[in-house]
Amino acid sequence: MFTPEIYKQRREALMSQMKGGVVLFMSNNEASMNYKSNVYRYRQDSSFIYFYGQQLSGLMGIIDLDRNRDILVGDDYTMDDIIWMGPQPTMQELAGQCGITDTMPMADLPAYLQRAQTEGRTIHYLPTYRDDQNLLISEMLEISVKKVREHASQILVDAVVALRSVKQLEEIAAIEEACNIGVRMHKAVMENCKAGMVERELAGLAEGIALSYGQGVSFPVILSQNGQTLHNPYHHLKLNKGRLLLVDMGAEATSGYSSDYTRTIPVSGKFTDKQKAIYNIVLEANEAAIKMARPGIRYWDVHVKATTIIAEGLTKLGLMKGDPIEATKAGAHALFMPHGLGHMLGLDVHDMEGLGEDNVGYDCQTKRSDIFGHRSLRCGRELKPGFVLTVEPGIYFIPELIQQWEKEGKHTEYIDYKKLKSYFNFGGIRIEDDILITEQGCRVLGKPLPKSVKAIEKLMKRAQEA
Ligand code: GLY
Ligand code: MN
Repeated sequence: MFTPEIYKQRREALMSQMKGGVVLFMSNNEASMNYKSNVYRYRQDSSFIYFYGQQLSGLMGIIDLDRNRDILVGDDYTMDDIIWMGPQPTMQELAGQCGITDTMPMADLPAYLQRAQTEGRTIHYLPTYRDDQNLLISEMLEISVKKVREHASQILVDAVVALRSVKQLEEIAAIEEACNIGVRMHKAVMENCKAGMVERELAGLAEGIALSYGQGVSFPVILSQNGQTLHNPYHHLKLNKGRLLLVDMGAEATSGYSSDYTRTIPVSGKFTDKQKAIYNIVLEANEAAIKMARPGIRYWDVHVKATTIIAEGLTKLGLMKGDPIEATKAGAHALFMPHGLGHMLGLDVHDMEGLGEDNVGYDCQTKRSDIFGHRSLRCGRELKPGFVLTVEPGIYFIPELIQQWEKEGKHTEYIDYKKLKSYFNFGGIRIEDDILITEQGCRVLGKPLPKSVKAIEKLMKRAQEA
């Protein structure tokens, strides 16, 4: 946890942005796997971590804007809890750790909220993403379960997004800690990858590192030779000498902050010329985007730059044709890169996505595109110092999509479908780094992680020779 003053200042900053009513923050409950007491790894709600730092279930935060009250709601542990879990802090101690003096038992919360509602005051809460939250709010505020998400407070969402988007110094240090765990995970995969292994062996190795140095992975590990499937969840294939392995994974530090890196490596330890040619286009897009990202520029424009470089590179190789700028405008590049350049990163790996992607990544100056590929950009808005984002261009050969576009005669002026036939087994390449927007430009977070063909081949050499 950070110091109590930090959480107090964050809540005060929130209060100064809101006019009245009662703000309710909920911690996440435990979630059962196969019977009630056998639970998934606990994950606190990220906004709760941001404003209270406590990564425990059974807590609520109340900020009564009209009465100027800042309350941590929850119950002291019982002797039964202590017998099974050991000595635990009291509510007063937990409250003190986040700069609060006022506590309230959970049993008093519904009446407090209902009284405020009777007085005509708004209860502001964030959009929910778990059904138990829906049930609890429905019960406490006496609204139908179906209406719970609809009643979430846009004013609160806007205020929370404004605060969480600009990372404070201690947050940047926490993200960088998560980055360094991510770097260890990726290097371990590069150092141990060998044909004949099963993907799962490497995925497990990396996940173990995430658990050894932090509190696990920041999202389920993507580690697959079928890298053309963007979020491929399977790890069952035997590693095959001539194939590429796409590895997209990050860690969560004990503070709850995340990292997110992608590297694509040759199983054999050496890229073929064909793989190298595509790899270097993606690398050029990644590096150009990092060079361009700075305050005052829209991430949309950085995304367009990266996708144009991809179209230019593929045109040089003869897989695309015509004017790459026009091709990108029309969305023809999206046959190869159907996703956006990146997203915000912080306490969530897709930071604040639970609050609504458009609330986080777009504003009245920058609206989301409706063109396939471009529309998947999660964050297009103007960049400010303190933003942390991923930069993750890619090129994928998705046989099903290529066949569908060819059948529909889509973008035939920009795509040479005949030449693509020999790429159906290629897979996909993505290269992803995490950047902090600074006053002058941006800085790549974390210790260096091999990215060029040469650096990757050098690190992989040891495993191949063993
Ligand atoms: N690294 C996974 C994603 O950004 O969706
Ligand atoms: Mn990402």
